[in-house]
Amino acid sequence: MNVQIKEVKKTATESFGNKQWAINDKKFNFLPSRKTFYFASYSGKEIIAYAQVEIRGGIAEIRSLLVKDGLRGSGVGTQLFSHVEAWAKIKKNCVKSVVKTSSAWPKTIHFYKKMGYKKDAVLPKYYYGVDWYYLSKNL
Ligand SMILES: CC(C)(COP(=O)(O)OP(=O)(O)OC[C@H]1O[C@@H](n2cnc3c(N)ncnc32)[C@H](O)[C@@H]1OP(=O)(O)O)[C@@H](O)C(=O)NCCC(=O)NCCS
Repeated sequence: MNVQIKEVKKTATESFGNKQWAINDKKFNFLPSRKTFYFASYSGKEIIAYAQVEIRGGIAEIRSLLVKDGLRGSGVGTQLFSHVEAWAKIKKNCVKSVVKTSSAWPKTIHFYKKMGYKKDAVLPKYYYGVDWYYLSKNL
């Protein structure tokens, strides 16, 4: 086959990708449903923390968790994270929660371990020149 390769814009591959992934997912019996949800902690009208979670195949993947600078270490993260875990278990029937973090943030690793997460895998120098950890917990 005579094939040319070009660098293209995202939109050029979208319809091809959507169609072919749907065929692929069906073949491998993958559940296509994947949805992202957002939660915010308010102090009055102000957002002081937020979490982004993706639900897919019975797993809750925490994609973002961030507490406002200056308010960290006072329980806001624990409260929000516990809320998201309980929501994923009860409302979305998730059996497991997974997070990814790096050795650049030892306090964050400590936070997740305190929340009951165990290290599943390490990707040495994955990016930004630091080690990345996958941690998980059965809900
Ligand atoms: C990690 C994070 C969400 C935790 O939320 P938090 O409200 O600061 O944490 P809490 O007060 O509920 O939890 C307390 C525990 O987390 C630890 N912790 C983690 N990060 C901390 C931080 N930046 N400052 C203070 N404590 C922190 C504390 O040491 C504490 O454990 P200890 O009581 O044994 O000392 C928050 O600190 C944060 O937004 N950090 C920066 C962004 C980040 O790393 N997000 C996760 C990306 S994967």
